[in-house]
Parts: sequence; structure tokens; C-alpha cells
Amino acid sequence: MSMLAEAATIATRVEALLARMSLAAKLGQMVQGERAWTTPDDVREYHLGSILSGGGSVPGANRPADWVAMNDAYWQASMATDGGRLPIPLLYGVDAVHGHANVLGATVFPHNIGLGATGDPALLERIARATAREILATGVDWTFAPTLAVAQDPRWGRTYESYSDDPALVARLGAAFVRGLQAERGPDGVVACAKHFLGDGGTTDGVDQGNTVASEEELLATHLTPYHPALEAGVLTVMASFNSWNGDKCHGHRWLLTDLLKHRLGFDGFVVSDWDGADYLSDDYAEAIAMAANAGVDMFMVSVEWRKCIETLRALVDAGTIPLARVDDAVRRILGVKLRYGLFDRPRPAERPWARRPAALGAAEHRAIAREAVRKSLVLLKHAPRVLPLSTGARILVAGRNADNRGHQCGGFTIEWQGVSGNARIEGGTSIWEGIRAVAPHAELVPDGAGADPSRHDVAVVVIGERPYAEGMGDIRSVPSPGAGSGPRAARRSSRRTASRWPWPTSIRKTSPRCGGFRQRRCPWWRCCFRAGRSWWTRKWPQRRRSSRPGCPGRRGAGVSDVLFGQADFTGRLSFRWPGAGGTLFPCGYGLTLG
Ligand code: GLC
Repeated sequence: MSMLAEAATIATRVEALLARMSLAAKLGQMVQGERAWTTPDDVREYHLGSILSGGGSVPGANRPADWVAMNDAYWQASMATDGGRLPIPLLYGVDAVHGHANVLGATVFPHNIGLGATGDPALLERIARATAREILATGVDWTFAPTLAVAQDPRWGRTYESYSDDPALVARLGAAFVRGLQAERGPDGVVACAKHFLGDGGTTDGVDQGNTVASEEELLATHLTPYHPALEAGVLTVMASFNSWNGDKCHGHRWLLTDLLKHRLGFDGFVVSDWDGADYLSDDYAEAIAMAANAGVDMFMVSVEWRKCIETLRALVDAGTIPLARVDDAVRRILGVKLRYGLFDRPRPAERPWARRPAALGAAEHRAIAREAVRKSLVLLKHAPRVLPLSTGARILVAGRNADNRGHQCGGFTIEWQGVSGNARIEGGTSIWEGIRAVAPHAELVPDGAGADPSRHDVAVVVIGERPYAEGMGDIRSVPSPGAGSGPRAARRSSRRTASRWPWPTSIRKTSPRCGGFRQRRCPWWRCCFRAGRSWWTRKWPQRRRSSRPGCPGRRGAGVSDVLFGQADFTGRLSFRWPGAGGTLFPCGYGLTLG
């Protein structure tokens, strides 16, 4: 069917449905509840258009069967016809932002900061297709990805969700991810969501949900650029951003959400709010909801008070504060997405093809893609004197509290919203230590490095990085205090919250092999694997020795050892400028190879 013919058919079906919908049914479609506070009976009674899992909000034992059963119940409720109820299938949404990483056993890929270093759109499209299959294997249809943030300040706790500080790179990679997720809106695809519109990565001092100060020209050039190819790729939903632009919150910004996104750019999907995002527009709840709806929010993501949201919408429509025409426009968009995605033509979740293949979750072919992604995400910053590749026969000291911690490798939005620590809950992957141990029989793990016997080792690999975090919890806030100064020094003082306790290289140098003899000189042969959600401003380390870039290399520690032992060369390039004492230490695009 041609695109024009499809559009005409869908428009006809939308109008036919709309004509049969009560106001209650219309308003229900405009509200998304969170699973912990919403039952299938609620979906049936209130005609809810969607349900989501917030980070870490999982059913039962958090296995595919639990997810499919949950989605089946919600879908059945949404399709009820008792009492003349109009059946409209609901969409279930999750933050599958680096794999379907809420779910035990899912394949966890590097976060976007690591994928940005690959610079490989084809790889990202394969990652997205694999992620879509694992999402479908749990009966879910919608992921709030990709993030199209162009992060400008590494103090922002969501820097790792950004591919790059270069808008053009974000544009190339984001569009590829949309194509992979939606898979031509066929049976192997899910609904994608470009977020957060607009300017989330440009806030002053990197404050999460802060204020982006920019001219219209600057905003469009830096932060809108990635949305053009994402819209051309047919992204079906866009999420409004918590941040403000020049003091005006995006959730209530009609020029951004309607005039620019929907009218000028022709976006014909629907805009979903962020988590209770409308609430912050005003101290008066009704005023806040009215502002968001009239600005162009089509679906309200509501954590707990979704009944209050529906009741308030009803009152605002009855009072004429929200025109019925705006409700109809929002519902047309929501129905249009569901029809274009084919949701009305899909069977109940339990009977869908991928839901019958739970083994798709964490499939070997997906893990192989993840391992490839880790390899390609690593950036060699310094290699003098040359000590790579390591020999598998070498007596290797592996140190650092992040060396054997899959949870720390994976970062936020993994099993829990803020991520987890340790290996137990990250099934099927390998820590960096496990990857090294698998190929180097004489390797030894000494987490804090202290007490390592110098005579027992030929080389030390020190893994340092951050604890997992998500959103504002990862912000590095400059801590203004008397005499503390501001900028990087003060920021680093406040950054200790995210920096996991790692053995500063100096402690390794004092105790590690051969370093003893070089106490007064730099250790010529220890490797520092730096794994974090952002580039770190550093002065203290012998910076010449960081051998990999920031990033959450998922749980594929084996991908790291592939490169450390020469199975593959470094191909990654920094996708963010790396700050240093005098400004930019390494430019975007920088990276060495062993060859
Ligand atoms: C969060 C995030 C957003 C996420 C949503 C649902 O607050 O800002 O990126 O998709 O809520 O978890």
C-alpha cells in the first residue's frame, strides 16, 4: 500500500473511532498510568491509553513470562466491550534505553555515551533491532528511546544518555536507532520516542531539569538538529522535556511543542509528557494541566494521581479552558500512532510472535552485538610507553573496585532506576575482571590494590569509574562554600557522590609491581581503564595512561579484554570534548589505535 493510501485509510479509521468515543474515552486515551498504581480494572473503567514501567518497576519475578502475563491482562482490559465500551488497545511503555535493561537476563548494551564513541549508525541500528525483539518478547510495545540530548556540560547526570556534544553525530546515530527500533513499523518493531524535547542537554551548569539559555538560532542549531532525521525516520512519539528554555518550561511551551514540532516540522505522532512533567508548570494543578494540554502535550505520563489528571482534564474541557478541538487533536494523534504501528491488528500480547520466544531475551546473537559494541566503544587516549596488547600469559594485577562489578559497568536504568551494584542481578554478562580472567590464567584481582605483591606481577590494570546513577542524582553540582572556589575544583569536591571509591592510581603505584622501584617516576606500564558516564575533569592522574573512554560498557567485560589482549584494535573516538585544567584536553573525535 502506498504511503498516501495508508495515510488515507488510517485517517478514515481514526475518524470512525473518534466519532464513537465518549469524552471519558477520549480523556482516558490521553493519560498514561504507572503499573504500580494502575490495575487492569482501572484501564477498563477509565479507558487508559497507556501504562508504563518507571525504572525498576517490574512484575512478579521480572522474567519474560511475568511481563507477558501483565501486559496480557492490561491489553485484555483495554479491549473490553461490556456495556458498549469501545475497545482500543493500550500501549505499554518502558525505558529500554540501553537494552531492555529493566528485565533480568536482558542484553545490556553500552549507554549512548559509549555508542557515540563507535560512530557507527549501522551498529546502532542492529542494537536497536535486537532491543526491539527483547522488548517484544516481554509483551511491551513502546520504549522511551532514543535520547537525542546534545549534552554540553559533563556535570549533567544524564550525560551518559547522550551520544555526543556534536549535534551532527547525535543526528546520525539517533535516526539509525529510530529505524532499528521501529523496523518499518512491522511485527519486529516497537514504538520509539525521541526525547527530551527540547534542549535537555544544554542547561546552565548541567543542572538536570534546569534552564537552557540560548537564542532561538542556538537552540535550533544545537538541540533541534537531531530531531530532523529522527522525524524523517518516522519516529512515532516525542517526549517533552523537563528543562526550561530561557526560563519557560518546555512542557508548557506552545511554540516549541505545537508551532515548531507539529506545524513547522510536521510531526504527526503524539507528544507524551515526562514523569508528572505537567505538574511543575504551576502551583495550581488545574492551571498546570491546562497549560500543558494547550501547549501541545497529547498524553500525560502520570505516576500516581492519574485519576486526578483525568478528572481535572474533564473539568477543564467542561469549562472550555481546554477546547474540545484540542482533545480531539490529541486523541487523533494517539489513535493514529496506534493504527500506524499496527496495534489494532496485533493479537493479545501472549499470542504475538516474539512473546512466544522468551529466549530472545539475552539471546547469544544479541550478546555478540553487545560485545562488538563494547569493543568499538573503547577509546585509547594515551599509549606511551607502549604496553598494549597485553600477553595472555602475563602475570596481571587487576585492581579497582569497579573491576569486578557488572552493576557499576552498566550504570543507571539497569534493573533499578538508579542501577545496581555487584554481579548477582546482572545475569549473563561479564565484568572487566571476568573478561580478563577468562583469557589470562595468571591474572589476579586485588580490588583496592593495597598489599599487592610487586614480585608477583608484570603489569597492572586499574579499573576506575563511577557508581551507577540516573538523572539528577548524577549531577555534579559545584558546591559553593567559603574558599572552595567554583568550577572544576569545587565540582570535583561535590563529585565524590558519584565517584565510586577507587584506588587512586598513586596508591597502586606505591604498592604495585616494579612501580616500587619507580616510586619517584611514573609507572611505565600500568593501564588505567576509565569507565564512567561522562568525561572527567582530571589533573591528579598521570593522564597519559587512561586507556579507555568514559562509557558504561554494558556488562560485556569480555569486549574490553578483546581489545586489551589484541583480539581487536581500538577504533573508538571521543564523542565528547574531554575537559582538562587548561580547557579541552582531548577534542571530540580523538582516539589512538595500536596499529
Ligand atoms: C524520567 C525521565 C524520562 C523517562 C521517564 C519514564 O523522569 O526523564 O527520560 O523516560 O521518566 O521513566
